[in-house]
Amino acid sequence: RKRTVVLISGRGSNMAALIDAADDSAFPAEIVGVISDKAGAGGLGVAASKGIATRVVSRGDFPSKEAHDVAIDAALVELGAEIVCLAGYMRLLTTGFVEKWQGRMINIHPALLPLLKGLDTHQRALDAGFRIHGCTVHFVTAAMDDGPIIAQSAVPVLIGDDERTLSARVLGAEHALYPMALRLVAEGKVRMEGGRTVFSDFESPNHNG
Ligand code: GAR
Repeated sequence: RKRTVVLISGRGSNMAALIDAADDSAFPAEIVGVISDKAGAGGLGVAASKGIATRVVSRGDFPSKEAHDVAIDAALVELGAEIVCLAGYMRLLTTGFVEKWQGRMINIHPALLPLLKGLDTHQRALDAGFRIHGCTVHFVTAAMDDGPIIAQSAVPVLIGDDERTLSARVLGAEHALYPMALRLVAEGKVRMEGGRTVFSDFESPNHNG
């Protein structure tokens, strides 16, 4: 099973979905650690309660973004990471770090990329009058929310939705999508090659059937 480390900054509900999926010994990845850049991240307690090793690498403890990312890299190496999953990790990573882990690091974004990169995706989807919204798992490259797409899941925007109801619907889709995408990467059925996603069989990597 591929040794996988999850990077978080907050609540960690996607992290928990990955840990729960990997609890099944038939799942091709095992979650060997969780790293947070915030000491107060709620997900740290959740991970610990599930018996997963946790590390805090706070930005404030380092003189620069580069030094912070070097420390995160060292924690990943110490944990023996083969795959890195960003799950609500809210800090941009430096180019050197991203290049080192390129093809082995994936992220979940709460929108159907390439629409709605960045923050506040649910309110922006509502403001734009979208009738469909969703989430994307992609390989991480140096440009924010821009790496090759692995899998997407769409949800409807319902009349009367507000940010709370829409984000909850998308989050439910995220919790199903992220474990599926990690499985494909861990099995080697999906890889990044020449800046694109390559699929090695005909399994359709979206969650809408
Ligand atoms: C998730 O919705 C994730 O897609 C989003 O933050 C939330 C984290 O929730 N990520 C981003 O916005 C990345 N720019 P979680 O901590 O409960 O998984």
